[in-house]
Amino acid sequence: MNLTLTVNGEKRSVDVEDRTLLVHLLRDSLGLTATNIGCDTTSCGACTVLLDGESVKSCTVLAASAADRSVTTLEGLADGDQWHAVQRGFRDKHGLQCGFCTPGMVMAAVSLLNDNPSPTREQVRQGLEGNLCRCTGYHNIVSAVMDAAGGAK
Ligand code: FES
Ligand code: FES
Repeated sequence: MNLTLTVNGEKRSVDVEDRTLLVHLLRDSLGLTATNIGCDTTSCGACTVLLDGESVKSCTVLAASAADRSVTTLEGLADGDQWHAVQRGFRDKHGLQCGFCTPGMVMAAVSLLNDNPSPTREQVRQGLEGNLCRCTGYHNIVSAVMDAAGGAK
């Protein structure tokens, strides 16, 4: 099937099999490899992207569901040289170690802050509970999101 969708602000037209998952369309057809695959079973959140502004786990969304819709991946977050506040927060608060979970964490955090621009630490923890990190113990990730929100440390 042929799909037309907007990815990181750019209209794209792609031929895919009907069964193609959104994460494979992004990685394999469009070469957007920031979006990682950690589990393939909706458990880890490494594949999180925004679909019409809402975070989704792209390993369990059919590419066909994104037809005529808008997808944002980590590659589309910065504004030229200007990093998104969440990206800066992760850098400044050391919110990553190996970095494998980070693209999904960042996209989930962007969605969280869109819904609640001034969350408490507890609300950040709850908002990111679908995203797993094997390295950091989460403390600095929460600090990174709080930093992006301009809130407490
Ligand atoms: S790869 Fe999608 S949730 Fe783990
Ligand atoms: S930084 Fe390694 S999995 Fe999160």
